[in-house]
Amino acid sequence: MDRMFDFLVIGSGIAGLTFSLKVAEQGSVAIVTKKEKVETSTNYAQGGIASVLGPDDSFDLHVRDTLEAGDGLCDEEVVRKVVREGPDLVRELVEWGVEFSRAKRNSKCFDLGQEGGHSRRRIIHAKDMTGREVERVLLERAEEHPGIEIFENHLALDLLTESRVFQAGTTVLKCQNRCYGARVLDSENRIRTFLARSTVLCTGGTGKVYLYTSNPDVATGDGIAMAYRAGATLADMEFVQFHPTCLYHPHAKNFLISEAVRGEGGRLIDGRGRAFMGDYHPLKDLACRDVVARAIDTEMKKSGDDCVYLDISHRDPEFLKRRFPNIYNKCLSLGIDITKDPIPVVPAAHYMCGGIRTDIHGRTDIERLYAIGEAACTGLHGANRLASNSLLEALVFANAAAEDGLGNLESARKEGLPSLPQDVDIPKTGEGGEMILVAHSWDIIRRLMWNYVGIVRSERRLSLAKNHLAQIKLEIDEHTPNIPLNRDLVELKNLLTVAQIIVQCALNRKESRGLHYNLDYPRRDDEHWRRHTFIKKEICI
Ligand code: SIN
Repeated sequence: MDRMFDFLVIGSGIAGLTFSLKVAEQGSVAIVTKKEKVETSTNYAQGGIASVLGPDDSFDLHVRDTLEAGDGLCDEEVVRKVVREGPDLVRELVEWGVEFSRAKRNSKCFDLGQEGGHSRRRIIHAKDMTGREVERVLLERAEEHPGIEIFENHLALDLLTESRVFQAGTTVLKCQNRCYGARVLDSENRIRTFLARSTVLCTGGTGKVYLYTSNPDVATGDGIAMAYRAGATLADMEFVQFHPTCLYHPHAKNFLISEAVRGEGGRLIDGRGRAFMGDYHPLKDLACRDVVARAIDTEMKKSGDDCVYLDISHRDPEFLKRRFPNIYNKCLSLGIDITKDPIPVVPAAHYMCGGIRTDIHGRTDIERLYAIGEAACTGLHGANRLASNSLLEALVFANAAAEDGLGNLESARKEGLPSLPQDVDIPKTGEGGEMILVAHSWDIIRRLMWNYVGIVRSERRLSLAKNHLAQIKLEIDEHTPNIPLNRDLVELKNLLTVAQIIVQCALNRKESRGLHYNLDYPRRDDEHWRRHTFIKKEICI
């Protein structure tokens, strides 16, 4: 059964929920989310939201820190917008019921945390479970709202677009693509059509493309891959942020040790107990993430050790239990008492700074298609995201896209929606294929990306990765038509698309900048490369 809404929102993290709450008074909203509604990257965000709230802080300082982290590639207009609009949107979250940690019990002042690259304490947080608290409140409100319907365990397969070709005689002047919804695999494995006047991709990032990641299993780059297939422009996909400190333990899956631990005095040490960050940057452990992740990578390669350690045991145990209850309990459950023991850590893929290119309103270059949050590339992060700027970006752009979407709603309603074409390309289902191909391809893509397209890259490794991925694509294209359509297969194809795009963008950029470090081009080259990398599939001519 086809469904029709004013707004189709794909994803139920901070971006999708905030957008939905902002438009739902005036339009009907469907939120489609591929697992349970809380299963989002937002829900796992530990650090917090960077925003100018302290008396010693200023917009100019936050702008300066963001631009510095972005290593020459941020869009300053976007940075100023996000920094300026942040505090009011954070206050709105407080009005909605989000309980951020206070400086003291019953105090009106918030406890502002410190993270790498920030020149002031400006991270508003809910202990070390900020995302969970924000998600809780936004979900509660969305569930209560009569204008919002949430569809759990619904996996978006592809966007529905219509190409309009403008031509003079036989010359094509312009090919305009418009989105009017998506095809979705529902919880009972049926393919359903969700028609919408505006569609919003809030599908998060791509961490699962790497063997080691801080991201939950849902982060398979679905929105980015769908947008690419539909002809949207992607930008800066070579800039993958590796978080320096994920817990290293055979029974810890994807568990982050928040940067806030270093903000509160945690020091990185090697296996012999030597603090090494002084060798790499004057800010030591509070340097930006690209610097810290590369330093750890270098130390591990030098020593041959499997991990380094983060030591915060010099701080008061009661403070640690209060400030980091989630990290304290998780580590304790694995036999690590952070009040006494150093924590074994390794870097892991954490955040995609590139994504679907959007303008200042969150619009992609496909009409009526927006992208918000990690799936989008707004220009805020440039070549390296400043810690805790991502939830902030999601809030600001959810707001901007909601305003824009509402502004167009009346005219979109007058125009109506196209009727579905007869020859809708329903993905083929087959019988008799072997799922082992899917599981195996998942593994090799993730290992390949980790080994060849990780923190430190080279032309040779990138070229090898490109060739291997092309071979995997051939195998998948040849063998998967025999496999019945299923979630793992859909995600595998998205993962492969994203991996190929990351590699291509990394090969295109002939310099090192921010998160992209290439041994064959070890220096930043402003003369040729102070620009974005774009990638787009030509689909209509
Ligand atoms: C962290 O808590 O270290 C993660 C914060 C972020 O990625 O912005």
